[in-house]
Parts: sequence; C-alpha cells; structure tokens
Amino acid sequence: MRTAYVGLDFFVIKDLWYKNAIVYCLHVGTFMDADGDGIGDFNGLENRLDYLAGLGVEAIWLMPFQKSPRRDDGYDVSDYYQVDPCYGTLGDFVELTHEAEQRGIRVLIDLVINHTSDQHPWFQEARRDPDSKYRDYYVWSKKKPPDANEGMVFPGVQKTTWTYDKVARAYYFHRFYDFQPDLNTRHPAVQDEIRKIMGFWLELGVAGFRVDAVPFVIQSKGPGVKNVEHYDMLRDLREFLQWRRGDAVILAEANIVPKNDMQYFGDDGDRAHMMFNFQVNQHAFYALAAADARPLARALEKTRERPATGQWAQFLRNHDELDLGRLTKAQRERVFDAFGPDKDMQLYDRGIRRRLAPMLNGDRRRLELAYSLMFTLPGTPVIRYGDEIGMGDDLDLPERNGARTPMQWSHEPNGGFTRAKKPVLPVVSGGPFGFEKVNVAAQRRDPDSMLNWTERIIRMRKEVPEIGWGDFEILSTGRNDVLAILYGWRNNEVLCVHNFRDAAVEIEVRLGGPGRASLVNLLSDDHSDSPSGRHRIVMEPYGYRWFRVGGLGYVLDRTPF
Ligand code: NOJ
Repeated sequence: MRTAYVGLDFFVIKDLWYKNAIVYCLHVGTFMDADGDGIGDFNGLENRLDYLAGLGVEAIWLMPFQKSPRRDDGYDVSDYYQVDPCYGTLGDFVELTHEAEQRGIRVLIDLVINHTSDQHPWFQEARRDPDSKYRDYYVWSKKKPPDANEGMVFPGVQKTTWTYDKVARAYYFHRFYDFQPDLNTRHPAVQDEIRKIMGFWLELGVAGFRVDAVPFVIQSKGPGVKNVEHYDMLRDLREFLQWRRGDAVILAEANIVPKNDMQYFGDDGDRAHMMFNFQVNQHAFYALAAADARPLARALEKTRERPATGQWAQFLRNHDELDLGRLTKAQRERVFDAFGPDKDMQLYDRGIRRRLAPMLNGDRRRLELAYSLMFTLPGTPVIRYGDEIGMGDDLDLPERNGARTPMQWSHEPNGGFTRAKKPVLPVVSGGPFGFEKVNVAAQRRDPDSMLNWTERIIRMRKEVPEIGWGDFEILSTGRNDVLAILYGWRNNEVLCVHNFRDAAVEIEVRLGGPGRASLVNLLSDDHSDSPSGRHRIVMEPYGYRWFRVGGLGYVLDRTPF
C-alpha cells in the first residue's frame, strides 16, 4: 500500500495531535446552565468536563461565545475581547481552559472574522464617520451594485448581499445576514486586528480556531470586484498562530470543491491544518439514503490528497443545515426523500435542518452504522453534542435553531439543563426524543445505550491510529451497497466495512499476501480466517465491521520509512 507520510518520525506525531483526535463540538449556551438563568455557561461546561473526558473526547470546539446581540447564535460578534456576560466572565473562560487542560482536553474556539455584528463599535464608527479609520474596515458602495441579488448564503431568508445604510449613506456588503457587515479582510489594518484577536485567545489557553466561512474571508470584496481567493492569507494566519503556539491549529470551514482542497491545505502543508470534509459528508448521507456507496467512494478518492501534516475533519451533522449543495439534483432529491421529505424539514433550497437521530427514525442499527462510518473515515472525527445519546430536534424553532436545543442530561425538569423555568431554547420534550426518554443519566445506567456504545467506539477508535495517520485503499466487495476501506500505517492494517443496505449481504474481499489470512474483529466475535486471503464476510442489515488484519499482536513500526 502506498504511504504518503514518508519522513515523519514517530516523535513528531505527538505534536500533530489533530491528525488523530476525537473532537466534540458544543455551544456553551445550550450545554449546561450552572447559575440557573436559563442559559448555559462556562461554569456549567466546566462541571461537565469529566463527562467529556469519560467519553474519550480530546478536544472541544466551542461555538462563538464572545459578546454579541446573538441574532445568528453568536456568529455576529460585537466585541472580540469579551465573553458575552450571559455565559460568564473572561475569568470563567480561563478556568475552563485550565480545567480542560488538566483532563487532557484541548479547547478550540470559533474565529468569526469574515464579518462583525452591525453593533460592533467598528461598524458603528465606520457608518457614522466617512473619515474614520474604521470606514475601510468594511466594504462600501455609493450605488447599489448590479450583482446585489446574487451570492446570498441564506436564500429564502436573506434578500440581498448589499444593504443601504442611512447613516453611512452608502450600501455595505454582507455575505450573510444584513446585520453581519463583511469585514474588508484584505485591508492590512483588519489583518492586524485579526492577528491581535488570535493572539489574545491563544494567551487564554485556546489550542486553535475553527475559522468561520474561510472562502469568503480570503476573497477580494467590493462592488464589481471579481471573486478571487487569496490563499496566502491562510499561510499568514498559520504562521502567526504557530509563532505564538506551536501545536495550535486552524480548522477551516470551507465547503469547497475537491480541486481546490490543496489550495487550502497548501502544497507544503503551510496553510490550514484541518478542513471539514463537506464533500465526503454529503456523499455519506447519499450512501445512507440510497444504499449506494459508489459516490461516497468517489468523494473519498477525490479528497484523498492532503499534505502529510494536513487532516480532514469528518463529521455527520453540525449546528447548521445539512448542506446537500454538492450533490447532483437526483442525489439531493434522494436524500430529501429519505431524510427530510417535508418542506418544513428543508432549508435554504439546499439542505435539511434536522438532527441525525430523527432523520434515521431513531433506528439504532442505522445510527450505529452512520457513526461507525464517521469514526472510520480518513481523518479526525468531530461529534456534535447530544449525538452520543441520539438527541432529536424541534422543528417549531426557526431555521437552524431546530437542531440547537439544550443538552438532555436527565429526566429532571428541562432535561437537567437548567433550574430556570424558561431555558434559552426549549428542551425537546415528549415523543421518542424527548428528554424524559433520551438523556445522559438514563443512558449511563444502561450498558447497551447509545452513550455507552459511543464511549466504546471512541475507545476503539483511539486504538486504531491507522485511520487518522495511514493511507487507505477502497476495496472491491462485489456490491455497490457496501463500502470497504483498508487502512495501512507502519506495517499494520485495519479493514472497515459498512453495509448500507437494509438486508443481510455477503461480500468477498481479496487481500492476499502474507499475514493477511486472518481478520480479527475488533468489535464483536466473528472473525474471518482464510489462508488464501479471500475473505467472505456475511453482514447483517446495516452491519459494520472493524477488523485488524493479521491478528492483535500488532506493534507500530517506529523505524522511519
Ligand atoms: C458559518 C456558520 O457555521 C454559521 O452558523 C453562520 O451562520 C455563518 N457561518 C455566518 O457566520
């Protein structure tokens, strides 16, 4: 098997923690409320760090918690240097990063630098005074640009990308909602501000940034300006980051096409360390919906290339809609039919705004299949809070809020999330996903629960570094509904097989070669032995297998290649 990681020696690996880690994302405001005001806070999260450590999480990614009018769940920052008082104080934040570190958990935070809130003092000053230095921090036009009705990120909700500001007497550009004016990110003074913001949070103990909306951050902006990406900006950000903290990372949110991937990673691995794999994400949902793994296999091939130090973040659902914009129309319709048939479940003409468990009708076999797949895709898995217990959603809430309801800790009022009568968003209650049935406390007591399954699968995933570090080969199984991926790294191999069909199937994989006669099942008892290396494997409906090739006596080969 081809190994792309020539030259990296074993010791380097410890520094490159993100190549093989378990990341858990959450919003402080909906995780745990300690002070009883209905809104989650840093103290609440701190109280739950042992829970996260127990789950096996190695890094948490916190959605924006800086001061904000919170009209886009915090992605509208009005002060980059303050935490919003509803979540606590800067002191509480530092306590949190300290406590997390004690447990070996790194803290990543969102870096929202494509735009600010319109309430940010920079914007207020910029609109008020044309001579203010802040005027150039934003993107203006005297006249309404002819393309003002193009490029909206939230079609159906957002009407335009240029809005007239009466005070400024000019139009300002906003890629997202009108209360999120775009920063003129090419402007040196804005770039200085960005570095200062990063430096500030690094000093407070953060281990990296999930950089929001990267393609827009690095684009030229302005009336009539052609959309050109300036990839060097990523190198600048990375350089600064690493001067300040060597093992800190940039995790880029960039829903791009594979031919541009290496521009974002950098040929020499000198740009983003990590990037969410939207391509694989969407095709994974297609595989789950259509029991057809072929487009997913192609997506994996197309996104195979990454620098030795670069890594994919593999995820299923996040806090936004499930964006299906990269699928063909027919594929998208197939996913809509399976997982979001009602108009009310769909969003922005391209996605589904549900959580995973309701999409899969709470079918445990399918949930395990989906998460087993996610944990075995090439890269670092990113779980979303509540997924470990199979939380549901509340489609009565507007837009993406339906999938952002508070964590369900127990059967106590408001799911044990808050003592307040009114939580920041309603806790899902009643029905198959209500907190009365789906909660952490109940699942802890049940050895067969989703929570305990997740804990076990994470533990096993950590013992399979081949997935994060190795190279992979997609093996032919003779079936379109089964995906078999063979990972190899440092003379060890692991085979992961997933059956997307609601029926038992038998597959054959031909491994051949010495040492490949036995496949040891890492999750259950059915192993496979075949002296010829041709393994016939029977899989139950929605079944999955993780096999170590050649037995359990493996040792990582430390000699450099
Ligand atoms: C991407 C974030 O994930 C989304 O939640 C937000 O609305 C936009 N960027 C704008 O910041």
